[in-house]
Amino acid sequence: MLIDILQDFFKTQNNYYTLGVGLCLGYVIGAGVESYKRYLSLKKSEKERLERESVPEEPDIFKLYDSDQSTLLVRYLKEFGLFKVDPALDKIKNRTSTLSDSGMMAGPICAQLMALIGHVANSKKHIEVGVYTGYNLLQQCLEMKSRLGDEYLAIALDVTQGPFFLTRHHFAEAKINKKNVDFRCQPAFDSMKEMCSEKELPFGGFEDLRGTIDTIFIDADKESYPMYYDYAIELLRKGGVLFVDNALMYGAVTQWYYNGEDKVKLKHRPEKSKAFAKYAKYIHETNEKIKNDPRVKNCLLPIGDGLNVVVKL
Ligand SMILES: C[S@@+](CC[C@H](N)C(=O)[O-])C[C@H]1O[C@@H](n2cnc3c(N)ncnc32)[C@H](O)[C@@H]1O
Repeated sequence: MLIDILQDFFKTQNNYYTLGVGLCLGYVIGAGVESYKRYLSLKKSEKERLERESVPEEPDIFKLYDSDQSTLLVRYLKEFGLFKVDPALDKIKNRTSTLSDSGMMAGPICAQLMALIGHVANSKKHIEVGVYTGYNLLQQCLEMKSRLGDEYLAIALDVTQGPFFLTRHHFAEAKINKKNVDFRCQPAFDSMKEMCSEKELPFGGFEDLRGTIDTIFIDADKESYPMYYDYAIELLRKGGVLFVDNALMYGAVTQWYYNGEDKVKLKHRPEKSKAFAKYAKYIHETNEKIKNDPRVKNCLLPIGDGLNVVVKL
């Protein structure tokens, strides 16, 4: 039956033309639809690309110096970025890196920057709030010793001397006298409170360190940062410098502030996202205090874990 219909159809010449025209039209319409579809999908991917590009990716805040050793940047920093140090300091660094909580150690870039600023500020009295294995404490002692011989004082505050016990002999190797390091082993809050009052000394006289300290490094329990800041500003002399570590906490502080505590996701320490999100509150409170404090000028540096450098006016 189909064959009969086709035979009838091809008997008439006009029907050939009709078929030809129909096929041509079909082809032209099909091609047109296809290229329109391609145009639409191109437009969509271009739109997506533009959208992607307009959302900036967060810059990385992490201890760059301790990251991938094979990158050219880290190699170059190690070769040309830092001044030469006493071998005892490297020994503390190497010993500390065998500990499971070695991430607490101050980064060499931050420690050297603090030593350079201590040099410019002619620091003779330094307070370390949070000692751990004493890496930065030794760096600051060495810097003061190089200018002042044995006429300087480092006050070291920590709740424990445990980690320091592992590395203390490197202080002796670096010829740091015991009398130059005053280790006060109790909560730093208590020590700072005592230093900010007239404390009676066991062998007579009083100690009141308000307005006498040249440099202070805050690097202990994060919840107490806002209170440490208040005491530190009382303790510093005019022109003295305060360094606040972890001022950005691997990016937790900015994510906490702009996105909320439950949205903190850290690229370099994902397992610490929750814990650092909790600390972010106190660190931000400190950063905000500093920003609104007319007694100081500051610069928050995105190095190490974020280092807030604060000068008392
Ligand atoms: C990040 S580590 C200090 C690192 C050190 N500044 C360095 O240069 O490597 C923190 C230290 O704070 C101490 N710490 C924690 N809570 C404290 C508190 N309430 N008072 C004093 N020290 C505390 C810990 O025992 C630890 O040794």
